[in-house]
Amino acid sequence: MKRMLFTPGPTEIPAEVLASQSRPIPHHRTDEYRQIFLEQTRLLQEHLGTTQPVLTLAASGSGAMEAALVNLLSPGDEIVAVEGGKFGERWGKIAEAYGLTVHRVKVAYGRVAGPKEVESAIAAHPKAKAVFVTHSETSTGALFPVHEIAKVVRAKGLLTVVAVSFN
Ligand SMILES: Cc1ncc(COP(=O)(O)O)c(C=O)c1O
Repeated sequence: MKRMLFTPGPTEIPAEVLASQSRPIPHHRTDEYRQIFLEQTRLLQEHLGTTQPVLTLAASGSGAMEAALVNLLSPGDEIVAVEGGKFGERWGKIAEAYGLTVHRVKVAYGRVAGPKEVESAIAAHPKAKAVFVTHSETSTGALFPVHEIAKVVRAKGLLTVVAVSFN
């Protein structure tokens, strides 16, 4: 019997993609590899509907969350973290591990926070430099209104950092 996974990941991989992984691996400092990498970056931009740079990281999603946080902020900075599940909570944990002060907008599992709650948190913590939020909180199934949240955050001059899962 074929085992089916119903978690947010790992993703089911089509047979032809699995088969392509059995082909010889080109060295990563050759023109052959550079072409493959540039093409996959172009395809990712097309898939994500952006002309902005797309960075591919050899890490799990949490590694990408950590990379975003440490490259945008410094120890001692203050942030607002929107928490309504395991992945929202992860933003705050990573930030504290790097010596940032975290102001939490907490909602019960299964619920979402919206722009009003985030705006109040920014008003209460004027030193905050960024707001961290999770789009689809896959640990509960709740979808956060990140566009609306980002609008109020941008209006206040802060950065919005969003964890988005694609499967
Ligand atoms: C919403 C969300 N954020 C972050 C992650 C990152 O988790 P991981 O480090 O296990 O890839 C996941 C993985 O399922 C996720 O669903």
